[in-house]
Amino acid sequence: MKVTVVGAGAVGASCAEYIAIKDFASEVVLLDIKEGYAEGKAMDLMQTASLNGFDTKVTGTTSDYSKTANSDICVITSGIPRKPGMTREELIGINAGIVKSVSSSLIEHSQNTIIIVVSNPMDTMTYLVHKTTDLPKNRIIGMGGALDSARFKYRLAEALGAPISDVDGMVIGGHSDKGMVPLTRLATRNSVPVTEFISDERLNQVKEDTKVGGATLTKLLGTSAWYAPGAAVSGLVQAIACDQKKIFPCSTYLEGEYGLSDLCIGVPVVLGRNGIEKIVDITLNDAEKAHLEESAAGVQKTNGLLEL
Ligand code: LAC
Repeated sequence: MKVTVVGAGAVGASCAEYIAIKDFASEVVLLDIKEGYAEGKAMDLMQTASLNGFDTKVTGTTSDYSKTANSDICVITSGIPRKPGMTREELIGINAGIVKSVSSSLIEHSQNTIIIVVSNPMDTMTYLVHKTTDLPKNRIIGMGGALDSARFKYRLAEALGAPISDVDGMVIGGHSDKGMVPLTRLATRNSVPVTEFISDERLNQVKEDTKVGGATLTKLLGTSAWYAPGAAVSGLVQAIACDQKKIFPCSTYLEGEYGLSDLCIGVPVVLGRNGIEKIVDITLNDAEKAHLEESAAGVQKTNGLLEL
C-alpha cells in the first residue's frame, strides 16, 4: 500500500504522520513545491519511527512526480489555507489551478489511484477533479464530513459532560460554515438519543459551534487547523487501505441520491478497497432535507465560479 500526500504543510505533514504511526501502509511519499521541504519533513518523521514504533517508509520530493508512481491512494492538501476572517470559498481562484494540475500529474503516474481531496473550497475542488479527470467517481473522495463529524462529537461530548468515546454523530452537507448539516436528531450517547440529555437550545448551540469549528481555530491559530484534518484524512486512508467498509460522510458526486445531481457534497458513504463502494441514502426529515438543499445551492454557486 503506497500513499502519496501532496502538500507538506501542516495538514499534509500531520496526515503523513498519522498514517505512518498507524503503520498500515508500506510507503508514504510527501511532495511539496517548496524546495527541500517535503524531504525535510519526511526525514524528521522517519527519525520518529524507532521512537513511535512504525515501519512505514516516509520519503519526500520536491515536485518529482515519478516518485509517486503506482500510488494506491493520493491525498491532495496543496493550495493556500484560509486566514482569519476568510471563507473557504474565497480560496477558489488560486486553489483550482493547483488542484487541477496536481491531480493530472498524479494520475499520469498512478492511473489506478484513489484521490482524496482536502484543498478548499473542498466540495468544489472535488467536483473539479471529477470534471477534469477520467477517474471513475468511486475513486474521487472529498474529505470534510469526517472532520466536521469529529468536531461535532467534540462539541456534543462537551455539552453532555461525557467522554467522546460515548458519543456518536454525523455531519453531512457542504464543508463550509453555512453548508454543514449536523444531524442532531441522529446523534447518540451510547445509543440513547442526545435529546434525552440536553435541551434543544443547548443542542442548537452545539450545532452552531460545530459549523464554525474551522473558523474558530483559524481565528485562534492565525491559519487553518491541522491535527483534526490530518487525523480525519488518515481515517479515510486507513478505511480504504484496510478495506474496512466503514461509513464516513464524504464529498462524492451525486446522481440523484438525496434528490441532488451534478455536484459533490458530503453524504454518508461506505469506504473500502475500491474507494466509495456505496452511497448510503438515509431518510432525512423535512428540516434536514431543506438544510441539505440550501447547502447544495451554496456548493453549486461556488462550482459556478470554476472555469471548466
Ligand atoms: C478545516 C479546513 C481543513 O475545516 O477546511 O479546518
